[in-house]
Amino acid sequence: MKPIFADNTTIERATTLLRQGKLVAFPTETVYGLGADASNPEAVLQIFNVKGRPTHHPLIVHIGNANQLKFWAQKIPEDAKKLASAFWPGPLTLILNKKAHVPFAVTGGQNTIGLRVPDHPVALALLNKFEGGIAAPSANIYSRISPTQASHVEEELGDNVDMILDGGACRFGVESTIIDLTDPTPKLLRPGHISIAEIEAVLGIELIVVTPNFNERKPSENRASGMMPTHYAPTTPAALCEHDKLEAILNNLRNQNKRIGLLSYQFNPPENRFMHMLCMPEQAESYAQILYACLRDLDSRNLDIILIEQTPETEAWRAINDRIRKATAALNDK
Ligand code: TXA
Ligand code: MG
Repeated sequence: MKPIFADNTTIERATTLLRQGKLVAFPTETVYGLGADASNPEAVLQIFNVKGRPTHHPLIVHIGNANQLKFWAQKIPEDAKKLASAFWPGPLTLILNKKAHVPFAVTGGQNTIGLRVPDHPVALALLNKFEGGIAAPSANIYSRISPTQASHVEEELGDNVDMILDGGACRFGVESTIIDLTDPTPKLLRPGHISIAEIEAVLGIELIVVTPNFNERKPSENRASGMMPTHYAPTTPAALCEHDKLEAILNNLRNQNKRIGLLSYQFNPPENRFMHMLCMPEQAESYAQILYACLRDLDSRNLDIILIEQTPETEAWRAINDRIRKATAALNDK
């Protein structure tokens, strides 16, 4: 399916397709989503089929504004209202107790639901015209790299999606921050553009930070699929490398005649004839914006290995480091 420019006419058509139970990929400020009518269990099951995603992995329901929260969730704590008014529309997903009418197909069989109001004009126009909730995971094959451009969705899903709305490259480039508010103490399930400090400043309490268990391989015990150790991964083997060890690793791989891709942060190799190197921005926000597109680029070059140079271990880099660790988990474990 070729991406189609998002304007009033095509958004109207997308709304009709959603009402018919079809799948529409659309841009958000984080990554492209693969959307279906959240009230239609059959449509939602199509998302799992197309992505190859296990059906117990819950989806995020996108809504047009915070007033719709009470339609989808119950026992909504004050903290949810505070976070919604501080950050919505924006890259924050809240996990709350679901209302009885919400299909279990959406929530992976759980009694909780993930909700967010995306901050993208196309996503908001679609939601406002549709007037319902749109269940949408990232529009990629399960456990692969999330799409940040319409062409990535086409590459990933081909004709298995009924429409791809093109709204340009995503502004943030990593998926939303996920906060679980179903227990008295809020938990961070997935880091994103909105930082722990920003959330704690609004709530006035400390978050519990749930980190993925990199030794855990059983999907059923990971509530957030983004918490699976090998998520967001290229198909080419990828490894994380410390700056100081890079030169030795490169020499070693060159001696083995390996075709190398390097996502370089601050490394300047003496000569780079034997590898394909992408130099990444120094600022975390700019780095995040192009990370997935760069991994996708390297992944398409028929290389033997992709090396990712370690980025700073500071708060600003938390979401990026989380995604890089997951993209490289398969090799780093060995
Ligand atoms: O930025 C984003 O969040 C993007 C855009 C499209 O909105 N969406 C996205 O969806 O990243 P997905 O399905 O790739 O990741 C959603 C995450 C998954 O890790 C899922 O397990 C978690 O949200 N999630 C959804 N509902 C949940 C629930 N009830 N309890 C725990 N985790 C939940
Ligand atoms: Mg995803």
